[in-house]
Amino acid sequence: VQRHAHLPVGRRAFIAGVAASVIASCSKDDPASSPAPTSAIPRRPRLAADPFRLGVASGDPLPDQVVLWTRLAPDPLAGGLAGMPDTPVEVEWQVAADPGFTSIVADGAATAEPGAAHSVHVDAAGLDPATDYHYRFRVDGFTSPVGQTRTAPASGGARLRLAVVTCQDFGSGYYAAYRHLLAERVDLVVHLGDYIYEWAFDTPERPILPPGVPATLDDYRLRHATYRLDPDLQAAHARFPFALMWDDHEVFNNYAGATVPDDSVDPESVRARRAAAYRAYWEHLPLRIDPPTGPDVRLYRDLRFGNLARLHLLDVRQYADEPPCRDGAGDDFGDCPARLDERAYLGPVQEAWLDGSLAQGGVVWNLVGSPTLVAGVDLGPPGRPGYYLETWDGYPAERARVIERLARPDVANPVVLSGDWHAGMVNDVHLVPGDVTTPVVAPELMTPPISSPLYEVARAQNPHVHHVVDRHGYLILQVEPSRLTATFRVLDDVRRPDSGISTDSSWPFAAKTPGAPAR
Ligand SMILES: [Fe+2]
Repeated sequence: VQRHAHLPVGRRAFIAGVAASVIASCSKDDPASSPAPTSAIPRRPRLAADPFRLGVASGDPLPDQVVLWTRLAPDPLAGGLAGMPDTPVEVEWQVAADPGFTSIVADGAATAEPGAAHSVHVDAAGLDPATDYHYRFRVDGFTSPVGQTRTAPASGGARLRLAVVTCQDFGSGYYAAYRHLLAERVDLVVHLGDYIYEWAFDTPERPILPPGVPATLDDYRLRHATYRLDPDLQAAHARFPFALMWDDHEVFNNYAGATVPDDSVDPESVRARRAAAYRAYWEHLPLRIDPPTGPDVRLYRDLRFGNLARLHLLDVRQYADEPPCRDGAGDDFGDCPARLDERAYLGPVQEAWLDGSLAQGGVVWNLVGSPTLVAGVDLGPPGRPGYYLETWDGYPAERARVIERLARPDVANPVVLSGDWHAGMVNDVHLVPGDVTTPVVAPELMTPPISSPLYEVARAQNPHVHHVVDRHGYLILQVEPSRLTATFRVLDDVRRPDSGISTDSSWPFAAKTPGAPAR
């Protein structure tokens, strides 16, 4: 973990603001005046406008730590450094037990580097487990909005509430789902990918920058800034910690490893695009990862919530071999005998990691976050199988090994959480996916899209699909030692910013002995 250098700064200086900063710069007894140990001394330049227009965020909570995020951007859509000077800038931060910041529990200063688009990732430490906190940033007399966050439980844990979200194409609808999410009492939001879309299908009400598909780091920064100016998305980030995993659209539609569906694009340019997209993703989100400096970035990871649950987040794009049967017609939906061949989806290194992550034990529930569908769905007309080969259905050999791991007797109560389909679903993951004569290994809960266009799910030839949600919205998971309850919350109309919301259905799953399906 690489963290920004923390320069100690007193609470007095933070509260007194810019005046104190000026005084501190010539005061010997104020620790804030200590020079940074590098040649690039963080500055406190005069900013012409509020630099906190992209808001604040927190994420990847541990029992005693949480990542706090902001990006200084007085003019977020200006491109380049978004109105910031091309110099490092010192940003003060505070974590408090109360919204009025009378009880400060942690504070410090971090350096916002121009090479990181003046983003700030503070891994605030020394916090108490399962505790709510408030946080804010300050620079040059400007104070950020106040964010709320919550640490993970250290042990025990009677109840955990998660929201699961995916697929938020900006131009396809409003983020009313995020506005309603603010009223839910959840400890964490799990985002399973398609946070941005590389395409720019916009409307006069929802214009998207840059026009067209991003290619450079500047382009991807501008796309993230466009999304993050949405007030509902920004409010959700300020209200809850997030744990995020990317899918394909954070880089390019249906990329796999160093390939894209258009085979006129060479692998080196896919890797260059990955490097730009991965960097911009990290710059804009509260992630506890090493800052990306190229096309290879480890994002898969696990988060533990006491003795109640562990969340294993899978990266199904970066290490994937090209999906089968992509040549020629470019038909993603056909049957394809070659799909049965061995090819990497997670890849061998991530597979070994998942093996170890599941083997850690000590929790009642193993939540496996997969950006794409695991249970398998036959899309063809009855009698003529067809599969969406960018999902696990294009990689059944590796999927068989993963499902066998989930079925091991030492893996307690596996539950698959997934995204990407643009429909909600409740599925059974069978030992042989789609073959209902084989044992059920885990339930799969596919969360509906926040705003992306809805896609259909054929039910007739998929008896392991128990329910389909053909609406926008999100999934709420209430996790308790004896049961897990999944509730689909759905919008009336994604085209209306003031859309109402209602409950589609609720699905209880009983905790069983390890290795048995939760049902
Ligand atoms: Fe999507």
